[in-house]
Amino acid sequence: MAIQLSVILNLCFLLLLLPTTIHTESDHNRKVFVVYMGHNTLDDAASFSLHLSMLQQVIGRDARKHMLQRYTKSFHGFSARLTEEEAKKLSGMEGVVSVFPSKLSQLETTSSWDFLGFPLTVKRSTTESDIIIGVFDSGIWPESASFTDLGYGPPPAKWKGICQGNFTCNNKIIGARYFKADGIFDSTELQSPRDSDGHGTHTASTAAGNVVTNANHLGLNTGTARGGVPRARIAVYKMCWIQGCSDEDILSAFDAAIADGVDIITVSVGLRVAEEHFINPFAIGSFHAMKNGILTVQSGNNQGPMPQTTGSIAPWILSVAAGTKDIDLMTPVRLGNGVVLDGVSINPFTLDGMYPLIYAGDVPNITAGFNSSISRFCSRNSLDKNLVKGKIILCDGISNGETEMLAGAVGSIMTDPYSDTVMSYPLPVSVVNLEQAATISRYIQSTRNATALILKSEVVKNASAPYVASFSGRGPNAIHQNILKPDLTAPGVRILAAWPPVAPITEVEGDRRAVPFNMISGTSMACPHVSGIAAYIKTFNPTWSPSAIKSALMTTASAMSDKINTDAEFAYGAGNLNPLAAIKPGLVYEAVEVDYLSFLCLEGYTSQHIRSLTGDNSSSCSQLMEQTKDLNYPTFVIPTLRNRLIDSSFNRTVTNVGSAKSTYRAFITRPLASGLRIQVEPNVLRFERLGQKLSFKVSVQGIIRRLDDPIVSSALTWDDGVHQVRSPIVVHVP
Ligand SMILES: *[C@@H]1O[C@H](CO)[C@@H](O)[C@H](O)[C@H]1NC(C)=O
Ligand SMILES: *[C@@H]1O[C@H](CO)[C@@H](O)[C@H](O)[C@H]1NC(C)=O
Ligand SMILES: *[C@@H]1O[C@H](CO)[C@@H](O)[C@H](O)[C@H]1NC(C)=O
Ligand SMILES: *[C@@H]1O[C@H](CO)[C@@H](O)[C@H](O)[C@H]1NC(C)=O
Ligand SMILES: *[C@@H]1O[C@H](CO)[C@@H](O)[C@H](O)[C@H]1NC(C)=O
Ligand SMILES: *[C@@H]1O[C@H](CO)[C@@H](O)[C@H](O)[C@H]1NC(C)=O
Ligand SMILES: *[C@@H]1O[C@H](CO)[C@@H](O)[C@H](O)[C@H]1NC(C)=O
Repeated sequence: MAIQLSVILNLCFLLLLLPTTIHTESDHNRKVFVVYMGHNTLDDAASFSLHLSMLQQVIGRDARKHMLQRYTKSFHGFSARLTEEEAKKLSGMEGVVSVFPSKLSQLETTSSWDFLGFPLTVKRSTTESDIIIGVFDSGIWPESASFTDLGYGPPPAKWKGICQGNFTCNNKIIGARYFKADGIFDSTELQSPRDSDGHGTHTASTAAGNVVTNANHLGLNTGTARGGVPRARIAVYKMCWIQGCSDEDILSAFDAAIADGVDIITVSVGLRVAEEHFINPFAIGSFHAMKNGILTVQSGNNQGPMPQTTGSIAPWILSVAAGTKDIDLMTPVRLGNGVVLDGVSINPFTLDGMYPLIYAGDVPNITAGFNSSISRFCSRNSLDKNLVKGKIILCDGISNGETEMLAGAVGSIMTDPYSDTVMSYPLPVSVVNLEQAATISRYIQSTRNATALILKSEVVKNASAPYVASFSGRGPNAIHQNILKPDLTAPGVRILAAWPPVAPITEVEGDRRAVPFNMISGTSMACPHVSGIAAYIKTFNPTWSPSAIKSALMTTASAMSDKINTDAEFAYGAGNLNPLAAIKPGLVYEAVEVDYLSFLCLEGYTSQHIRSLTGDNSSSCSQLMEQTKDLNYPTFVIPTLRNRLIDSSFNRTVTNVGSAKSTYRAFITRPLASGLRIQVEPNVLRFERLGQKLSFKVSVQGIIRRLDDPIVSSALTWDDGVHQVRSPIVVHVP
C-alpha cells in the first residue's frame, strides 16, 4: 500500500513522506503512536532533525517513511507508525513525556437561546467581529446562509490561519484546514474542510452562525436560527472522518489553531472513556491552548446516564452536559379506542386516517430464522413484510427505523425508558415510555382489529425543563476525583441549526431528504452554546484568562433541580448556562499555568513531567506544591465513605471583576444530610479595587450516615446584593 499524500501536510513533511512500496516484515505490526514531548523550545529545523534522529535510533534507515504528523508550532512531538517495541524504546528517550497508541474519538437553534434568556436584541460589543472561534469537527458547509459574510470587514489583524482545499474562505469563515495523517479517505469523504456529515456545520452555526430568519426543519419548529455570537468569525479545523477522529489529527488541530490565533476552541468530540493527562489528546492540546490564553470548551460525551461516563475531565477544559429546553416537540399517537398518548420524536410526516396496528413480536420473518423474542425489538431484517406492509408497528425498543421502513410499515411506535431520545426517522415514528407501551400492548390484545395513527409533531411547552438528558455523560470524574465534572449544562436536545444539503438527516440508506437546517440532539449540540457565550464574555472582557471566563460561566449558571436528575451535580455540574449573568460575574476563581502544574503534582505527576510541560529544567513539584495545595476551582467535591468522619478544607481565592468597592457575604445552602457542617472563613470579603484578590477557606465536617443519600449537594454563594457568585459543594459516597 502506497501512502497517499495530502495537502494537509506541511512542506517539510511532504518532502519526507514520498510514496513507497518497500515493505519490511515488521510493517504489519506497526500501529500509529503519538510521541508527545511537551513544550516546544526548538525551531522547526532543529525539532525536525531531533524527531528524525530519535526515529532512526529505533527504526533505522526506514525512519522517514514511518513518520506521520509533526507538532512543532504550539507544542512538541510527532506521530509515527511504530511496533510496540519501538514505541517502548522511544518512551525511554530523553525529552519524551509519553508515547501512546492513537485511538479514535467520536462525534457526539432558535428557541434554545430564548429559553436561556438571551434574546436576539441583547447588548452586543462592537468588537464581536474581532473574536475567532476555532471549530474542531467534521468540517463546514460554507454556502449555508449561516455563514455568508455580508457586512463583515477583513479578518482581525492577528489572524494567521489559512484556507485549504475545496472552497474559498470569506470574511465569516476566515480559516479552514483539514487533518488526516493516514491519508486514507473513504469514497464518500471530501478531501477538504467541506462537511459531508453535517455535525460540524451544525455546531459551527450554533456557536457563531449568522441570524437566519424563517429557519425550520421540514416545516417543524419555524423560527430564527442564530449562533451565540452571530458576528464572530469561524475558523474550521476538520479532524473527524467517517471512522472517527484520531488522536494524531486532534493534536494537529490544536497545534495549528493555537498558532493561527483563535480565541476560543469548541470541540464537540469526546473520548468514550476518561484517560489520564499524558495520553489524552484533548487534555494535552487544551493544556497548551490554556498556556496561550485560549479556553477549550468540550462536550461531556453521550455515554450517560451511568456514573463516571464523562470523558472530559481536565480542570482547564470546560466540560458541557446536555440539557433540555422548554420548547419540546411532542408526537401524539391516537389509538382506535380513542386514547391519545404523548410520545416524542421529530416527525414531519402527516398521515391520514387510521391504520392497522400490530405488535412486532407477532410478526417475525420465520423463514429467515427469526422468532418473536428477536422481532419484538424490530431488530435488523427480523420482520415479515407480508404481515407488516401498510401497518403501524409497535416495537419493544428503539432503532433508526430502517427495518420497519424496509418491511413496508406505515409508521413505527418505539419504546424507550428515557423519553428524551429524540431523533429524525425515515418514516412516521413516535417514541413512547414503558407505561405508554403497556397501554398500547393491552389495547392490541383487547381487540382483533387494533388501529392507530401517528400524528405530525407539535410544539409544546415542557415545564420541567431544564433537566439533563439521559444520554449526557455523567460524573464523578474518573481520573481526578477532586474535580467536579461535568462543569455546566446547556441545551442539547432537539437543536435546530445549519446542515449541508449533501448530508443525510438519518443514517438510513435510501433516505435522501436534503435540508438546510436539521434538528439533532447530543452534548455536541450543548457544547457550542457554551463556546458562543464564552466568546460573548470575551467581547466585553478581552483580557480575561481562560479560567476567568470559565469561572464566570460556572458561578452564574442557574441552579438545577435534582428531582429528575437524582445524580444532581454529576449530571449538571454548576447548573444551566445563563448568558446575560455570565458577562457580570462579580468575582472570578482564576487559575493559571502554575496552578495547574501544582495540581498535576498533587495528582502524582513528577517534576520531570512538569518540566516537559513548561520547557524549563528548574520547575519542581516540591516547590510547586508548597505554593498551592488546592486548585482554585469554582466548584467543590468531597468523595467520602459512609460513616467515615469528613474533615476537609479548601483554600480559594476570588478576584474582583465587579465594582471596585464592594462587600460580599458568604451564604451556604443547607446540606440535606443532617450530619454535615460547612463553614466559610472569613465569611465577609471587602474589596477596595478592581482586580483585587482575597482568599478564604471552606471547611466541611461531619458524616454521611447509612441512611443518607449517596450524593449530598450544597452551595456557597458570595453575594454583594448585585452579584450572586455560586459554587456547588458536593459530598458523595462513590
Ligand atoms: C469539492 O466539493 C464538492 C462539493 O461542493 C464535491 O462534489 C467535490 O467532490 C469536492 N472535491 C474534492 C476534491 O473533495
Ligand atoms: C417533558 O419533560 C419530562 C421530564 O420532566 C419528560 O419525561 C417528557 O417526556 C417531556 N415531554 C416532552 C413532550 O418531551
Ligand atoms: C429465538 O431465537 C434466538 C436466536 O436464534 C434463540 O436464542 C432463542 O432461543 C429463540 N427463542 C425461542 C422462544 O425460540
Ligand atoms: C424474510 O427474510 C428473507 C431474507 O432476508 C427475505 O428474502 C424475505 O423476503 C423475507 N420474507 C418476508 C416475508 O419478509
Ligand atoms: C375492523 O376495522 C375496520 C376498519 O379498519 C372496520 O370497518 C371494522 O368494523 C372493524 N371490525 C371490528 C370487529 O371492530
Ligand atoms: C537546562 O538544560 C540545558 C540543556 O539541556 C542546559 O544547557 C542548561 O544548563 C540547564 N540549566 C539548568 C539550570 O540546569
Ligand atoms: C491556605 O492558604 C494559606 C495562605 O496562603 C496557607 O497558610 C494554608 O496552609 C492554606 N491551607 C490549605 C489547606 O491549603
